Amino acid sequence: MKLPSRQILAVISVAALVAACTSSSATTAPGGATCAAAANAVQIEAVSWWTTGGESSGFNAIINKFNCDNPGYFVTNSAIAGGAGSVAQAALQSRVLAGNPPDTFQVHMGHELLDTYVTPGYMDNLDDLYSANGWTTQFPKGVLDIVSAKDAAGATHYYSVPLDIHRANVLWYNKTVFSSNNLTAPTTWDQFFTAADALKAKGITPLAVGDSGIWSNGMLLEDVLIGQLGADKFNGLWTGTTDWASADVTTALNTYKKLLTYVNTDHSSLSWDQAADYLIPASAGAQPKAAMTIMGDWAAGEFDNKGFTDYGYVAAPGGTGIYQALADSFGLPTKAAHKDGVKKFLTLLGSAAGQDIFNPYKGSVPANTGAGNPPADQKQYSTYQKWAMGEWKTDTIVPSMEHGAAAAPSWKGAIETAVTSFVANPDAAALQTALVAACKDAKVCK
Ligand code: GAL
Repeated sequence: MKLPSRQILAVISVAALVAACTSSSATTAPGGATCAAAANAVQIEAVSWWTTGGESSGFNAIINKFNCDNPGYFVTNSAIAGGAGSVAQAALQSRVLAGNPPDTFQVHMGHELLDTYVTPGYMDNLDDLYSANGWTTQFPKGVLDIVSAKDAAGATHYYSVPLDIHRANVLWYNKTVFSSNNLTAPTTWDQFFTAADALKAKGITPLAVGDSGIWSNGMLLEDVLIGQLGADKFNGLWTGTTDWASADVTTALNTYKKLLTYVNTDHSSLSWDQAADYLIPASAGAQPKAAMTIMGDWAAGEFDNKGFTDYGYVAAPGGTGIYQALADSFGLPTKAAHKDGVKKFLTLLGSAAGQDIFNPYKGSVPANTGAGNPPADQKQYSTYQKWAMGEWKTDTIVPSMEHGAAAAPSWKGAIETAVTSFVANPDAAALQTALVAACKDAKVCK
């Protein structure tokens, strides 16, 4: 992955500083202050899968703020590459199961957090932090509901701190390509295929996909399901009230099959960010490699980080007014080695001030409702993010399957296996059979 020259300089200067100080490590905010670890600082290991663009910039910015303000502690971003945690999640799970967890780690709110870590008893509750910081009134109820679990006596306990809210169902497009071809951003799948045909006729790849991690193709499946079923029936897929064998799902799967005929031929060798970069022309005035991509709004962080401003956005077709949400959160493993330091770090992650450091880089909106106005000397929210903040308040919220909120990890795995087969051999009927079976195996459907 190419780094912009400013970033390369920052990396080189941090490396030089680390070498000069012979300290074990140092962190730096993007374009900002560098803090080296004090000799006796308690090292806090935070594991994420944020290695690219706005992702690592945002996390490094908030880590750096913590390290500069808390010289007794030193947090490191031990990132494991692989979008959507496609590599990190298995590694994290085996460390937690082996009783050797990192001090804190990235985990999606919802099933990924609760089924994998909370129910089996691997996490401490964070009730004291929630009450000390007033988070039970600062985070939206829908978020509180899926970072918490009830105990046998019916009391609610909170298990992780949401750092952001991402929207998964967004279509991004190159504005110049659209305007020079007299196209408008599609808001229905019919409009999408009309625009895609026009682009194809001009020799332009309509949709960039990077499914070296199959999750990003699974997101396309979710998008067509949302567009076909609407919010209530889409929700019902995950609760057992919508039949995976229904005609609506059949129609969606045929749309999905058609959609995959408009994508770049090298999709399986690209990561999500490499696919997003296909919208960025190699030089001013050049034709980009593709006109659109459908990806979560971490793509906005990627574009902004690369200095690319010529992008437009709409809800993925059929998803206007439907916000498919997910949140990255961090918790406290019961066997964490440095609990006091983690609690201090989590306090910053959950605070309005901390969220206004991280989210402007990330493309997400803050989970803390008190955030949204960074001080003038910090990075500000983008035009996209200001739009998303409004949508988050007014849209119907549905959960993301691929990003841990809607389905148990084992169910997600079964769907990804079915999607992998489908991408190799696009047989919509076989896919539907596999999806019906996956829901039964998950014990959500009868
Ligand atoms: C998601 C995660 C986002 C972003 C994305 C791509 O699962 O929630 O924060 O990192 O993967 O890696």
